[in-house]
Amino acid sequence: MLQHKIDQYTAEINAFNTDKADELEKFRIRFLGTKGIIKDVFDEFKAVSPEEKRTLGKVLNQFKQLAEQKYQSLAEVTQASAEKSNADQLDLTLPGEGFEIGTRHPLALVRREIIEIFNKLGFSVAEGPEIEDDWHNFSALNFPEEHPARDMQDTFFIKKGGEKGDIALRTHTSSVQVRMMEAGQPPFRALMPGRVYRNEAISARAHCFFHQVEGLYVDENVSFADLKQTLYYFVQELYGEGTKVRFRPSYFPFTEPSAEMDVSCSICKGAGCQMCKYSGWVEILGCGMVDPNVLENCGIDSKKYSGFAFGMGIERIANLKYEIKDLRLFSENDVRFLKQYKSAII
Ligand code: PHE
Repeated sequence: MLQHKIDQYTAEINAFNTDKADELEKFRIRFLGTKGIIKDVFDEFKAVSPEEKRTLGKVLNQFKQLAEQKYQSLAEVTQASAEKSNADQLDLTLPGEGFEIGTRHPLALVRREIIEIFNKLGFSVAEGPEIEDDWHNFSALNFPEEHPARDMQDTFFIKKGGEKGDIALRTHTSSVQVRMMEAGQPPFRALMPGRVYRNEAISARAHCFFHQVEGLYVDENVSFADLKQTLYYFVQELYGEGTKVRFRPSYFPFTEPSAEMDVSCSICKGAGCQMCKYSGWVEILGCGMVDPNVLENCGIDSKKYSGFAFGMGIERIANLKYEIKDLRLFSENDVRFLKQYKSAII
């Protein structure tokens, strides 16, 4: 009797299949529940004769295992199909999550703007090494032996003495001008952008490295008037038409005469503010006529050729343009700072 029942239920379990959780739950209650079939057959088993018990005991245990295994394997199937149907229900009309793309560094933006303006005047771009020898950084540029700029306080020396003199991190990109002039003959019309190093304590107003764009123009009959006109044009393009310029006499070993150029403060338009220290003017670059000694040092005939040079700090131009008061922000890589500066061109 019991054996017959078990055979029937075994066939039923073997035939059962589903991928629906509610049907599987019905199966579990029917066979494995506290009032289910397994419980019933075990209760009936208690009443059978001792001889029958010996054979039926094993059969019963196998039957119980069969029901449990069936339940386990179908539980996996129903779970997988539930997950799949959840995935099928994804709402594809929801807005996407989006991802952020990086932005140009403000110094890179300003550098590019400067280069683009001078490109229109026919200036190309030249680059050189950041580790320089004494000749390219100082001597060829007419720095006297005892000039304070060679002092340990301003320059990061890498090696003292040696075949080519002291080796140092370049303190300006004028070294690239020397390399350019040594490598060819005029006309030269180029910009030298790059990173330069000076041994200064880091603060809001000074850093041990910064970025420069220098420029050089050498040809026959180049005059101070050409220098003024070129820089005047540059400033109108950079800060807008009507920006005023003024030149103050200055000194650089490699230019004669030398000047510093101020522009009318782009922030207060000359009315006076913190940026221009209430003077209405801000200094943005140094410039001058290339000293004939420098031309000769580089193998250029100073009787035939003349030229002008200028140099500016990109950080300074960016400070004015974006009103950034602390130089350290440029090198901290804080994304909240950097992503404020977006450009149309990537
Ligand atoms: N080399 C100078 C500096 O680093 C800038 C400069 C360049 C001045 C060319 C005059 C002419 O301060």
